[in-house]
Amino acid sequence: MMIDLRSDTITRPTEEMRKAMSAAEVGDDVYGEDPTVRRLEELAAGLTGHEAALFVTSGTQGNLVALLSHCARGDGAIVGKECHIYNYEGGGLAVLGGVMPLVVDDTGGLPSTECVRALCRDENVHFAPARLLCLENTHNREGGNAVDPVAYGELVRCAIDAGLAVHLDGARVFNAAVAWKVDVKEFTAAVDSVQLCLSKGLGAPVGSVVCGSKEFIRQARHWRKLLGGGLRQAGVIASAGIVALERMVSRLAEDHGNAALLATLLREGGMDVESCAKPTNMVYVSLSPSLPGAKEIAERCGKRGVVFNPTSPRRFRLVTHFDVDEADVRKAAAVILEEARPS
Ligand SMILES: Cc1ncc(COP(=O)(O)O)c(C=O)c1O
Repeated sequence: MMIDLRSDTITRPTEEMRKAMSAAEVGDDVYGEDPTVRRLEELAAGLTGHEAALFVTSGTQGNLVALLSHCARGDGAIVGKECHIYNYEGGGLAVLGGVMPLVVDDTGGLPSTECVRALCRDENVHFAPARLLCLENTHNREGGNAVDPVAYGELVRCAIDAGLAVHLDGARVFNAAVAWKVDVKEFTAAVDSVQLCLSKGLGAPVGSVVCGSKEFIRQARHWRKLLGGGLRQAGVIASAGIVALERMVSRLAEDHGNAALLATLLREGGMDVESCAKPTNMVYVSLSPSLPGAKEIAERCGKRGVVFNPTSPRRFRLVTHFDVDEADVRKAAAVILEEARPS
């Protein structure tokens, strides 16, 4: 059996999800008539501390409808240079929104309050005015770091005081809450909007939810339709999302434990595992010049049934999720250590 550490997106629906999907009560959601979608949206809004929510097809679509709802053409959105919205979403904010990315350093997972304040400049004909701050937690490219809730809260307050709206890309915000042992509202309630993924560590096959005020969700619903995301009997998939939110959150701790074990085993074997302030379900490994490149190691390991993604020529990422257990992690570490020897 293959051990797949490429991403937590590869998880397949649980038996409980499959049962919920086959039994789901449905209606036409574009008419607002799907009771299961409504139940999912109410559940997500309640969990995140918002008035309303909207089921969307993916994290990318959720982030995009949020950006389009907050910003008009010519506005600026402050984004971290390592964040997913800026690096991996096809430049949707610029392509479809005419929104100018105002890029800041987010090393460690959070931009500093100083650099955010510095972009909140007085009106001037030369500037794209900053309207929105986008944050990400956990921060994927920064090691899956669960951002410190105190520093996060300070930054959110600072941005709101400076007149910005704040959007959280919370694709894995439940991982962050579990890692810090705090209620997820700690990260979601104070922001204007949050996008959370059901289809990553929570295991649902499809979908994300965007949460915010009723007025924000009214606009987001319009953008979702425009983007082709108005689904009909979507309760069939939303039902799995309900199971994800009700049943799959607390077990994320197991994924974090397995990632910690994997990191320890690789470190003990002499590999340069990147350190991370509050690790979750990701392990990033840097490769010194004496070792084969990331692509070559990944290919060799793949032939032995351990698959993962290189993220640059000398760096690769391993992600734990509910389809890998402790025995898999031990086997994966042994294979990687054997295949990452100098050739
Ligand atoms: C931090 C983050 N945000 C957003 C997304 C986009 O989610 P999707 O693949 O569902 O579009 C991802 C996907 O991996 C992600 O890691």
